[in-house]
Amino acid sequence: MTSAAIATSGLTKRFGHQVAVDSVDLLVPPGSVYGFLGPNGSGKTTTIRMLLGLVTPTAGSVEVLGRPMPGSVGSVLPRVGALVEGPAFHPYLSGRDNLARLDAADRTTDAGSAAARVDRALDRVGLLTAARKRYRAYSLGMRQRLAIAGALLRPRDLLVLDEPTNGLDPQGTREVRSLVASLNDDGTTVLVSSHLLSEVEQMCTHLGIMHLGRLVAQDTAARVRARSEPEATVDTDQPEVAATIMRELGLSAVSATAVAATGRLGEVAPEKVVAACVHAGVPVLGFRVGSPSLEDVFVSLTGEGFHVGD
Ligand SMILES: Nc1ncnc2c1ncn2[C@@H]1O[C@H](COP(=O)(O)OP(=O)(O)OP(=O)(O)O)[C@@H](O)[C@H]1O
Ligand SMILES: [Mg+2]
Repeated sequence: MTSAAIATSGLTKRFGHQVAVDSVDLLVPPGSVYGFLGPNGSGKTTTIRMLLGLVTPTAGSVEVLGRPMPGSVGSVLPRVGALVEGPAFHPYLSGRDNLARLDAADRTTDAGSAAARVDRALDRVGLLTAARKRYRAYSLGMRQRLAIAGALLRPRDLLVLDEPTNGLDPQGTREVRSLVASLNDDGTTVLVSSHLLSEVEQMCTHLGIMHLGRLVAQDTAARVRARSEPEATVDTDQPEVAATIMRELGLSAVSATAVAATGRLGEVAPEKVVAACVHAGVPVLGFRVGSPSLEDVFVSLTGEGFHVGD
């Protein structure tokens, strides 16, 4: 059996009385792109900090690349590229010089090829032309790109990216997405946190959903999506009658607007809805079956809306 890229057991962090991370069992399969989702304050960054040995857990255990953390930080961290909130770059140095300093701090790399390594990383995030600019003159998006470049200075077995598209424009967001895909193609496992559902939906093979410090769902992206039961919608000028018929047939979460009735099908065959309406003399002006978006699944799991990015 190939061991997990990341596995936590009962991982918990309390700040005073507040439980920021509550008994989380994370399982990130090797080779996956794992979307770590949740609203603001749900405990994503705190969890990620514990994975990287930056914060000591109150309880529970962490294994990264098969090694216990924080016990094995020395051997594990060189294999992990990380982007966590608030990277410490020097404001008066250029982007290139900042990366060179970061690269020099990694004693496992060859100093002779440092310049090439730095420029390759800058190039991958599209910062080569702005490489000589001082960090303090960088825009938020440029700072974010530089932090990603820092995680790419050497080949990694695991990339941990906390909200990597924060502050990026749509083009930058697309670039991060394709960067993640190409790194994953090369065999790098990626954990990417986000509250922007639309981004994660496109790039992830697996999803973990945090809510109030708890991991409320963890599965393949396909299976999380399958949790969203198909809904049937009848367009009619008698929506209340149609809604009653739907309830009688056994549909759940039935609702009516002025022009339509909608309900979750569950085990009910869609054609039965049409037949029952027609039989009852309700004019069926239109009929649709569709699955709620992943966002709707989130809403039902967390009771909160997610901001879906532009
Ligand atoms: N150092 C700290 N001291 C006290 N409370 C903290 C600390 N760090 C985080 N918290 C609290 O823990 C909870 C989880 O915070 P965390 O930053 O992990 O959430 P998040 O999911 O990353 O949110 P966001 O989407 O806003 O980045 C929050 O209520 C936060 O206020
Ligand atoms: Mg965070």
